[in-house]
Amino acid sequence: MKVLGIETSCDETGVAVFDLSAPAAGGEGPARPGAEGLLAHAVYSQVALHAEYGGVVPELASRDHVRKLLPLIRQTLAEAGLTTADLDGVAYTAGPGLVGALLVGAGVARSLAWGLGVPAVAVHHMEGHLLAPLLEDPGLEPPFVALLVSGGHTQLVAVEALGRYRLLGETLDDAAGEAFDKTAKMMGLPYPGGPQLAKLAEQGVPGRFRFSRPMTDRPGLDFSFSGLKTQVLLAWQQSDQADQTKADIARGFEDAVVDTLAIKCGRALDAAGCDTLVVAGGVGANRRLRAKLEEMAAARGGRVRFPRPALCTDNGAMIAFAGALRLAAGQREDAAVRATPRWDMAALPAI
Ligand code: KG4
Ligand code: ZN
Repeated sequence: MKVLGIETSCDETGVAVFDLSAPAAGGEGPARPGAEGLLAHAVYSQVALHAEYGGVVPELASRDHVRKLLPLIRQTLAEAGLTTADLDGVAYTAGPGLVGALLVGAGVARSLAWGLGVPAVAVHHMEGHLLAPLLEDPGLEPPFVALLVSGGHTQLVAVEALGRYRLLGETLDDAAGEAFDKTAKMMGLPYPGGPQLAKLAEQGVPGRFRFSRPMTDRPGLDFSFSGLKTQVLLAWQQSDQADQTKADIARGFEDAVVDTLAIKCGRALDAAGCDTLVVAGGVGANRRLRAKLEEMAAARGGRVRFPRPALCTDNGAMIAFAGALRLAAGQREDAAVRATPRWDMAALPAI
């Protein structure tokens, strides 16, 4: 079953084709294919378009999805050696996200499915992120705990079964990626700041600046990153603002976020009675976070799984994959174009 996946929830246009009936590698292993099912995928990033405004401009994002989506679908199908007639279904991100951007993907996906006479399925963006590690490691099965860390979300979710998600904790203010981006902006780094700040932190001296690990001194699985951002701002304003100082502050900030996430992940595994952690979302591309979580999981005899960095940030592959699982379970949308900018993952039907 070949499913076209379309992602347009924010500032990346992502398209992919996933074939759920591709032969699964590894003989005895799972019936479901992993990366071998990913026939082609392409992402067009709008970073350059939004850079001069220092953040995503929703109307410009929508217009650019309109320009890029159809050429990207043609390109992806050509790379997979397919035509639209080979598609068995179309999956698209219906939310959460920017409503105008979502409507572009939903409109194209729903019309294409209608024209081809194949089913369409609406995919929850965060479920896409959450299932991406399964695309990399088809042997991975629930139950596990997922850490979702993106520009808009920081959540710990107990995955009891595919499609059954229980929120264990989330941020009370800024998301982890948002904290990276805002802190980077404060220190004058170009947009998008998260990866730039992480790069700068590589040169930083650990321990020269030490910031608090918010909300780790009390029980609970919620996060708060806005106070940390203020601490970093004060440290930056009171510093000599030399290049090395900038890198040292970046390192102090990154260590504080990474430690906080790792402490809460350990607690979430305890709370869910699990030993498997999966990490997804843009901040999951952070190298120090990956290393720290590996260390934390190894120390407790557990394991942690991440998608490759390109599948951590927004992409069409995760939407094609999640959509293929839902289509295979018989789920489909009626012939209406709908976007759901706010959408609780716990409300999703089981797969
Ligand atoms: O999942 P994603 O691509 O888009 C959303 O759904 O939000 O996540 C983007 C977020 C941004 O805040 C970006 O700064 C952050 O992920 N990010 C990183 C890194 N790469 C991306 N943050 C820290 N370190 C990185 N290497
Ligand atoms: Zn995302």
